[in-house]
Amino acid sequence: MTVETPNRVIKQHLIDPEICIRCNTCEETCPIDAITHDSNNYVVDVDICNSCMACVPPCPTGAIDNWLRVVAADAYSLEDQYSWSELPAEQELPAEAVETSADEAAAVSDEAAAAVADNDVTSELEGLPSTAAGASIPPWSAAHPYVNLYTHKNIATVTVAGNYRLTEADTDNAIHHIVLDFGELPFPVLEGQSIAIFPPGTDEQGRAYHARQYSIASPRDGERPNYNNLSLTVKRVTTDYDGKPVSGVCSNYLCDLQKGDKVKVIGPFGNTFLMPNLPHSNLIMICTGTGSAPMRAMTERCRRLTKNKAFNGKLMLFFGARTERELPYFGPLMNLPKDFIDINLALSRASDKPKRYVQDLIRERADDVLELLDDANTCIYVCGLKGMETGVIEALKDTVEGAGRNWPEVHAQLKSQGRLHFETY
Ligand code: A2P
Repeated sequence: MTVETPNRVIKQHLIDPEICIRCNTCEETCPIDAITHDSNNYVVDVDICNSCMACVPPCPTGAIDNWLRVVAADAYSLEDQYSWSELPAEQELPAEAVETSADEAAAVSDEAAAAVADNDVTSELEGLPSTAAGASIPPWSAAHPYVNLYTHKNIATVTVAGNYRLTEADTDNAIHHIVLDFGELPFPVLEGQSIAIFPPGTDEQGRAYHARQYSIASPRDGERPNYNNLSLTVKRVTTDYDGKPVSGVCSNYLCDLQKGDKVKVIGPFGNTFLMPNLPHSNLIMICTGTGSAPMRAMTERCRRLTKNKAFNGKLMLFFGARTERELPYFGPLMNLPKDFIDINLALSRASDKPKRYVQDLIRERADDVLELLDDANTCIYVCGLKGMETGVIEALKDTVEGAGRNWPEVHAQLKSQGRLHFETY
């Protein structure tokens, strides 16, 4: 424990509100609930944060990685942080300020490391936050991503090249495929990365809306091969998580866009949910709804490579939707050759079939899943509803334990090798 010294200087952990895209990753990742948010900002409680750094690698923008030297007694409160629109400059410290000694700093970081390690062990089966369930590093062969090329201080303006509804018009589920053209603007992306979009207008307090994050649905060489464009899969949000009617600010803006409209974009973001870059790699892709965006990107990347005889790995897809008519990309997916991708559709509200979730199908296909898991060239990607995360982990655990194997060991290996990735919301 550190001994409290008057005027002790600390490095206060703060989140840069100008860069933060409010994706909630840090709050989900923090093992000790030091991070919270209001409608304006994500903030760090100085009385709880132990500088364990668990939140730093998963942050897509780097907004989380800010440390200001302050006298502990004058540390910024949550109220201070909620009110900020930018980080304060570092203040000059008073002459009587006492720097933390190297020993004290080491003790704090040892405590923090122990807290993270404890959390990792005890939370093995408890519905973990994304980063605890999955890897915080990409597979070793992943291509190196560019991140943060465009930021709040340097926003890209791009043009809508197309906007198509993917789900049947008579269903409640309006999911759109939106193509953005970057023209001459350099914006290199990889499958699994995301961008963020600024909806126009202001919130109830008159502040400009924050950017909203969307996964890219097209491969690295463009929605149209060798064009500087990319696509997004966007669901029009009309209700909140409890089913109460709300109008999603950015999703409605995007779904209403017309060809030729201009859109403000920042990014790219994401340096872990990346595909292996090997011809003989295998992908197990598990998604629901718009979580299909990165899976479409990866599948299309592999399809283009296969055409050039540059890919011969196995693809296995578990895709959850209410009905076939509400499953984005249903038509194109069904046209893919059976020997190219093994497609498993989990329909939860089909009138003629029993309710199925992706985790049910993983269990049904346990032998084939296990065979792929045992191949070191296999990576697993999970994207979609937050609720599926625990279910998928449980299904993988049952699959592995059903073969008499040790799940915590397999799970730890998948994470340390960057082979298991979650992106849920
Ligand atoms: P449900 O019919 O129970 O809502 P959505 O259309 O809302 O984006 O959902 C996509 C699919 O994910 C639906 O089939 C939905 O089923 C399913 N789903 C909902 N909760 C879970 C969960 N906890 N695990 C897996 N799938 C889920």
